[in-house]
Amino acid sequence: MYQTLVTQLEAGVLAVTINRPEKLNALNKEVMDDLFSVVTEIETNPEIKSAYITGAGPKSFVAGADISEFVGLSQQEAAELARRGQNVFSRIERCSKPIVAAVNGFALGGGCELSMSCHFRLAAENARFGQPEVNLGIIPAYGGTQRLVQLVGKGRALELILTGNMIDAQTALQWGLVNHVVPQDELLAKTRSLLELIGTKAPLAVGHCIKAANAVYDETQNGFETEVSSFAACFGTEDMREGTSAFLEKRKAQFAGK
Ligand code: COA
Repeated sequence: MYQTLVTQLEAGVLAVTINRPEKLNALNKEVMDDLFSVVTEIETNPEIKSAYITGAGPKSFVAGADISEFVGLSQQEAAELARRGQNVFSRIERCSKPIVAAVNGFALGGGCELSMSCHFRLAAENARFGQPEVNLGIIPAYGGTQRLVQLVGKGRALELILTGNMIDAQTALQWGLVNHVVPQDELLAKTRSLLELIGTKAPLAVGHCIKAANAVYDETQNGFETEVSSFAACFGTEDMREGTSAFLEKRKAQFAGK
């Protein structure tokens, strides 16, 4: 179904593995098209409650946009490439089901940007993050200048972006770029356990939480108003009735996502 992704659904969690290990999982056009499509699958398949994205092989999550596709691009084509990248990553960010990055190695350039478009990030001990675009005479343009500032603050973001230096997993943890650092062989199990926990919560409420958190960075919305309308919308759901009844009846809630 996908040219460049391997997907596997287990217990409501879709594992999405970018599978170009010989190119350190660099994001070429096919990968970007597949990522666009997989978000549609995640949104529309009721059996999928959440997903994580990781990279094939022990070395790299994603080592960036595929540099070989940059050769000979006109300025207009470059703008289109950046818009397409931003578009795909915004779809991930706006997905109503959690999508988490399990960063298993290099997360450079578009790889760092991909991880930042996910709802949160876990890293293996060997993970490395960086925005090395200045080494190529370009800038991060799949949302990196925006999301890195959002996640780690302007000073740290600009240090990474202007030096092109990589930071290790522990520094990423200290900066708040990742939530957990675990040994490589525990990365997917830890990621899965968090997603399975989220999978026991009310799905519509989970979607509203993501929407309200995203509204912080959306100038077209008043985030506090989005929070109010999302809160109110939950009161029209069966899940809200089930969750509150289950608490009062001292039993475990069973959510139907309705
Ligand atoms: N685009 C295209 N191909 C890439 C790539 C990218 N972003 N990153 C790695 N590759 C390819 C290499 O060209 C090489 O292909 P080859 O075997 O056909 O020559 C293969 O992946 C392995 O990479 P290699 O550089 O040999 O591995 P390494 O362990 O020596 O170095 C990195 C790893 C990540 C430090 C290095 O690959 C690198 O700097 N990549 C580019 C990172 C970057 O600038 N990303 C931002 C792009 S906007």
